[in-house]
Amino acid sequence: MDFSAVIVAAGAGLRAGGDAPKQWRLVAGKPVLRWSAEALLAAGARELVVVTSAADAGRAEAVLAGLRWRRVDGGVERIDSVRAGLAALADAPPEAVLVHDAARPFVTTAHVAALLQALADAEGALPALPVADTLKRADAGRVTATVDRSGLHRAQTPQAFRFDALAHAYAAWPGGPATDDAAVVEAAGGRVVLIPVDPRLAKLTYPEDFPMAEALAAAAAPATTARITRTGLGLDHHLHPLEMGRKA
Ligand code: CTP
Ligand code: MG
Repeated sequence: MDFSAVIVAAGAGLRAGGDAPKQWRLVAGKPVLRWSAEALLAAGARELVVVTSAADAGRAEAVLAGLRWRRVDGGVERIDSVRAGLAALADAPPEAVLVHDAARPFVTTAHVAALLQALADAEGALPALPVADTLKRADAGRVTATVDRSGLHRAQTPQAFRFDALAHAYAAWPGGPATDDAAVVEAAGGRVVLIPVDPRLAKLTYPEDFPMAEALAAAAAPATTARITRTGLGLDHHLHPLEMGRKA
């Protein structure tokens, strides 16, 4: 299926801290943004639009040198950055669009293929993990309820949409916060389906997520797989190292 991709990288990365916003930091020696830019191009994206703040234009040029991409300015909220990215694709609209957080470096061609396949009978598809922990609602640290977790999932990106459906849904969005793009399509009455994935698409959000990402990247490199498994980091349950190989 013909698709283009939007990577949103215009956030300030406040929760992750560090010397620079998380999308510009390195994981296994490669900038976080470059991981998914390479992966989405390798998966066959016709166009790649990267959304950053205007001040980061030079940083983006440096980090994505040699790749086929273009940049547009982001906005105050993530939703504004996604709108800017979609607008950049509107002149030559693709059949489908993938919207992805720069802060999730480990996308694979297999993830992209599964998402596009799911669009055969849906307007939107997203990778999601069933919630594994017991959920508590609390007020000022005191538990007020245990929430039934059955049927609940953690939504990740990339999220795939029929381009027209997403564009129309954004045009109809009444405003207000949306923490993912599927919510915008759902609000417009679109059919959105889940594809099961593994935890590799987890977002880098807090400082401690960076050591975990380093471990995931190391597990992807065949030479280090044995060491990771042997030292018992407990990752081997969730990882499928052979699937993680990617074109550099
Ligand atoms: N993002 C964006 N434009 C914004 C806000 C967020 O493009 N105005 C992007 C981020 O760069 C990130 C993705 O949306 O790739 C997911 O957002 P989040 O994890 O919340 O990143 P930040 O907003 O940068 O981090 P924080 O909320 O901790 O400040
Ligand atoms: Mg944010």
